[in-house]
Amino acid sequence: MSSIKPKVEIRLSADGSTTLYRPDLDEHYHSVHGAIQESMHVFIQAGLQRIECQNINILEVGFGTGLNAFLTLLNKKEGQINYHAIEKYPISNQIVETINYPQQFNLQNGNDLFRALHQAPWGKEVLITDDFTLRKLEIDLLNFASEIRYHLVYFDAFAPEKQPELWTDQVFETIFKHMQTGGILTTYCAKGAVRRSMLAAGFKVERLPGPPGKRQMIRAIKES
Ligand SMILES: C[S@@+](CC[C@H](N)C(=O)[O-])C[C@H]1O[C@@H](n2cnc3c(N)ncnc32)[C@H](O)[C@@H]1O
Repeated sequence: MSSIKPKVEIRLSADGSTTLYRPDLDEHYHSVHGAIQESMHVFIQAGLQRIECQNINILEVGFGTGLNAFLTLLNKKEGQINYHAIEKYPISNQIVETINYPQQFNLQNGNDLFRALHQAPWGKEVLITDDFTLRKLEIDLLNFASEIRYHLVYFDAFAPEKQPELWTDQVFETIFKHMQTGGILTTYCAKGAVRRSMLAAGFKVERLPGPPGKRQMIRAIKES
């Protein structure tokens, strides 16, 4: 798909979990204060744990290291999860091997689950466990379209200063259109301009306390 893959480097964040660094953007994939800590706070606690229905369609913007998919798998309740993840620049197997997320949990099958997420072929719906299917889409968010309506969106693009084209009114309008009524979008970003774009797209927007190292984050709801 994308011909030139940007270089990424492995780094350790303050909670002991790894993250990746993009030298060309001077940007990390996660908070340097703790990758797992941030994903748990922003996407699992403020997102997944707020969804009340049993069978959940999730859309992730930026599959990256697979951390959010992995934490969703580990924290899901009863019911089916249908997880779709968009990624423009999939990471190499060599980099996947250096990521330490499975080792952060005392689980017998953690390694197998994490590998299964990465080994799942792109563009195909894959059964990871009996109640978790994954479809990874190697596309640019700007070209995203789907028949599915999502209950939960993990908006995990690089920061608006680095990728302003992914945080526009138009992008949030597209995402809004792809969500169920009552659906939730969460992101680590709390910028005023992002909040205004979400409001313009039709979301109700709340600012919540952010993870360690970050004052605030955003949760947006499609009320009608
Ligand atoms: C902040 S990182 C987060 C990645 C992931 N959620 C994780 O936990 O590792 C942003 C991700 O968005 C991807 N990305 C960048 N531009 C994109 C685009 N235009 N469309 C889709 N994904 C993009 C990056 O390659 C990267 O994997």
